[in-house]
Amino acid sequence: MQKKVAVVTGSSSGIGAATARLFARHGYNVVINFSRDATAADAVASDCRGLGADTLIVQANVADDSQCRALAHAVDEKWGRADALVNNAGTTKFVSANDLEGLSAQDFHDIYAVNVIGAYQMIRALAPLMKKTPGAGIVNISSVASVMGVGSSLAYMASKGALNAMTFGLARSLGPEIRVNAIGPGMVETPWLQNGLGQEQFEARQKAYMSATPLAATIQPEDVAEAAYWLCAGALKTTGEFMLVDSGFARFSKLPRG
Ligand SMILES: NC(=O)c1ccc[n+]([C@@H]2O[C@H](COP(=O)([O-])OP(=O)(O)OC[C@H]3O[C@@H](n4cnc5c(N)ncnc54)[C@H](OP(=O)(O)O)[C@@H]3O)[C@@H](O)[C@H]2O)c1
Repeated sequence: MQKKVAVVTGSSSGIGAATARLFARHGYNVVINFSRDATAADAVASDCRGLGADTLIVQANVADDSQCRALAHAVDEKWGRADALVNNAGTTKFVSANDLEGLSAQDFHDIYAVNVIGAYQMIRALAPLMKKTPGAGIVNISSVASVMGVGSSLAYMASKGALNAMTFGLARSLGPEIRVNAIGPGMVETPWLQNGLGQEQFEARQKAYMSATPLAATIQPEDVAEAAYWLCAGALKTTGEFMLVDSGFARFSKLPRG
């Protein structure tokens, strides 16, 4: 029987890499996508092959529509099907929400180009192929930032709020063939925050996060991968859902001003 296929954008690192490995472990063939770091993508692909998957490594900047369409075309050529799409590729600029002069209009455009338009372009490119597979699922990796007013910058928070709104609209328009859901991770231990904050601030945030959450834990990339896999492959009657994976942070933490 032909294997199922999962496309995970931004899968050379962090949440995307963990998600690609999990799909491979569940018997899927996987597309590993990156925009800059080919060596990291090769390493994740090698892990996936070790788990029994066939892999397709595609360098594509999701902000570029022609590259999204080329990725979709390569999937169609190689396997002729796409059962799952996880829109995980994301970007940000670390600017305090108090620093209104710290963000330019161009910063908003750059962040939206990847976090919102990139996800849209990937969905548009892959939807015709996904519609051929009963039960196909899309998951957009959003953030607690979209519902809490916290996060690396106001432009980032706004982009993830827009991604949620797009998720709800597409859940209506792509059914009944395709389900579309979103995940809101809390503080995930990936290079993203370590590089963005620096090690000292990262450790301080880690401590604060643990003391603010009922589960007293930050999130691991594998935690988000589990939710993404379930929403794509298991939750056959769930669409238009926004699922928090945050140790209870959004619902129960008390945040200071600013
Ligand atoms: N870490 C957190 O605490 C956290 C919390 C909530 C939500 N999230 C979301 O989770 C997602 C993944 O974050 P992460 O923490 O796993 O980050 P990460 O470890 O820095 O990984 C980011 C991945 O995205 C790829 N990427 C970046 N820009 C891209 C583009 N334009 N086109 C294609 N691929 C691109 C990167 O590869 P290249 O460098 O090669 O391009 C890399 O594979 C993001 O959408 C982020 O907003 C993260």
